[in-house]
Amino acid sequence: MASFNKDSLGFIVFISIAVCLVCSVFVSAANVMLKPTHAINKELDQKANILRAAGMLPPGSEVSPDGRGINDLFQDFKVQAVNLDTGEYLPDFDASGYDAVRMSKDPANSRALTEDEDTVTIRRRENIGLIYLKLNGDELEKLVIPVRGYGLWGTLFGYLALDADLNTVSGLGFYDHKETPGLGGEVDNPVWKNKWKGVHVFNAEGKPAVKLVKTPSPPDHPQKIHEVDALSGSTFTTRGVQNLVNFWTGELGYGRLIQNLKAQS
Ligand SMILES: Cc1cc2nc3c(=O)[nH]c(=O)nc-3n(C[C@H](O)[C@H](O)[C@H](O)COP(=O)(O)O)c2cc1C
Repeated sequence: MASFNKDSLGFIVFISIAVCLVCSVFVSAANVMLKPTHAINKELDQKANILRAAGMLPPGSEVSPDGRGINDLFQDFKVQAVNLDTGEYLPDFDASGYDAVRMSKDPANSRALTEDEDTVTIRRRENIGLIYLKLNGDELEKLVIPVRGYGLWGTLFGYLALDADLNTVSGLGFYDHKETPGLGGEVDNPVWKNKWKGVHVFNAEGKPAVKLVKTPSPPDHPQKIHEVDALSGSTFTTRGVQNLVNFWTGELGYGRLIQNLKAQS
């Protein structure tokens, strides 16, 4: 009877391949089995980010001060799909699983931005966006819009929440960015984020007017209400944040929708 030589090259290669195959089957199976959990967690995380921007969930917490969980709090929100070119709702659009960032890469579902238009370095903008309306009966309490734009090292992704007047910032938060901790990464600092509360995004002409400043204007200056302190030592991140807020509240972002909503109220 032929016997295996355990020290032969062929046997070692065979065992190595067999171990790799068994491991890859385990990893693939785990990946497939965990996919639904991953999708649920991703959705929950997005809901938490929207709630945090709207000031309904404290930073880092998954429960509101009055003990409500993420899914419960999110019930107060209505998700609406919006045609960004017209600012009109798309009531029949199925928003579940819609990924606006992915759509922005598809020429059939997005528009190319010219160099002048693309102040946020995203190259293409999706045709349809999702917004989140916090309603009290029929009354709008807050509007949350997704925002994104380039900082120093990469794109910052977040949400901007506006109060019922559709001008006053209720909150701004980023859930993904590549900025340096302690420098551009200070976009996550609750003290800095708090400075956004009460800022007006539009000027008297209804144009986006947010400005991040190293030297704040005097208290009675008309620009003051549009100003937020710049992040020190982080000129590029600061400029990126200023640009992304002004872009997504502007004509190419959710500006038309906001104008439509203001006209209706
Ligand atoms: C390691 C390293 C990380 C940096 N990270 C950031 C950053 O995240 N955001 C930013 O705007 N600038 C960052 N900078 C600084 C920029 O390169 C640049 O010097 C700075 O934006 C100038 O800001 P100031 O005019 O406020 O001093 C970093 C610099 C170094 C050396």
